Amino acid sequence: MMGVRRESALMRKASQSVVKSRILMAVAIGISIGCLFAFLYPHGFLSFSAPVFRSRRSRRFQVLSSECESSESLNVLKSEYAAVYEKNKELKQQVKELTGKVRLAEQGKDHAQKQVEALGKQSKAGPFGTVKGLRTSPTVIPDEPVTRRLAEILENVAVQRELIVALANWNVRRSLEVWFTSIKRVGITNYLVVALDDKIAEFCTSNDVPVYKRDPDKGIDSIGRTGGNHAVSGLKFRILREFLQMGYSVLLSDVDIVYLQNPFDYLYRDSDVESMTDGHDNMTAYGFDDVFDEPAMGWARYAHTIRIWVYNSGFFYIRPTIPSIELLDRVASRLANEPRSWDQAVFNEELFFPSYPEYEGLHAARRTMDFYLFMNSKVLFKIVRKDARLSKLKPVIVHINYHPNKLERMKAVVEFYINGNQDALKAFPDGSEW
Ligand SMILES: *[C@@H]1O[C@H](CO)[C@@H](O)[C@H](O)[C@H]1NC(C)=O
Repeated sequence: MMGVRRESALMRKASQSVVKSRILMAVAIGISIGCLFAFLYPHGFLSFSAPVFRSRRSRRFQVLSSECESSESLNVLKSEYAAVYEKNKELKQQVKELTGKVRLAEQGKDHAQKQVEALGKQSKAGPFGTVKGLRTSPTVIPDEPVTRRLAEILENVAVQRELIVALANWNVRRSLEVWFTSIKRVGITNYLVVALDDKIAEFCTSNDVPVYKRDPDKGIDSIGRTGGNHAVSGLKFRILREFLQMGYSVLLSDVDIVYLQNPFDYLYRDSDVESMTDGHDNMTAYGFDDVFDEPAMGWARYAHTIRIWVYNSGFFYIRPTIPSIELLDRVASRLANEPRSWDQAVFNEELFFPSYPEYEGLHAARRTMDFYLFMNSKVLFKIVRKDARLSKLKPVIVHINYHPNKLERMKAVVEFYINGNQDALKAFPDGSEW
């Protein structure tokens, strides 16, 4: 028994060493095969990600086409191609379905993100009657100043990061003089003239009026020196952007405006754009239901429409927000691409038209200014000057936007409201009488 045991122990030892060397051999082979595969398939042997699949297939295709062009391999290729073609069709359909889903998800994510950015937090609706949407977008973080010089001027001139801005060239110097005299009279200090030529810049300096003369090398500025009213209007939106980008709110002002009170005391500052209106009463200024009648439709003869007289793009307060800057960019680029367009029409279309198929509307909050306080010249000459009660109220500004003989009417407004001459407005016709 013992002998048998010893013998079998010896044999076990011998067979153990054989097994050991076999294992070692297998490990060595395994490692070498591993190395070989690592070399041949650097992106992984079992990887099914699309790009790897494609590169492997094309490599194989190259090898086949260059080395063996037998009809057999061609047939293989053909059937492979057919299979891939089918698979491709299937995938395309899947991609189409997925794209739709992804777009929906993206929109949801996008809206959620925008809301979070705008509100900082999400909230529940709360009880009936207590819900109020957000009108005031957050202001942008001031960007690097476009020009150091303008940044310095703004630091000195702006009050609470707000100021009146007007563009002027030498052609409008007479109106400009009435404009800044009225501004100084009511004690406004935060105003700035963007001079479009040297003469008007000197004129401002000699009258102690804050002025910013833009760098002459900028291409867009050549319009300002020679251009008519409408060309200057296009430039206006480009220049305004620089102010907003630096985090300033701007009360953009034409120069055919007389200031009778400080407008900064009458702003709500709750919207991206707060603008004076071309309207002349509650309906036209603030909006109304204009019913369109089509008797042929019988029972449904009345179609309701929404109407509002346009905002005046010559006097508006614009806060440094993303929707505001988007508005300026949209208007400026449309004015550049549609030379026959009128800046005020474009300004209003961008502000008011909703999104529709293929078009994404601007989402800016708007506020119409009180049309008696921020008065256009139609309201003054057609209504107010003839009304004993209304003519006693002092507007904040009067804009001679509806009449061509601007200087005379501006001076008359000064006479009437500042010097107390009750007859100063009487000589003028309601309209321009051409
Ligand atoms: C116009 O609206 C104001 C309130 O916004 C109101 O006090 C006034 O009576 C209205 N005028 C007319 C003529 O309806």
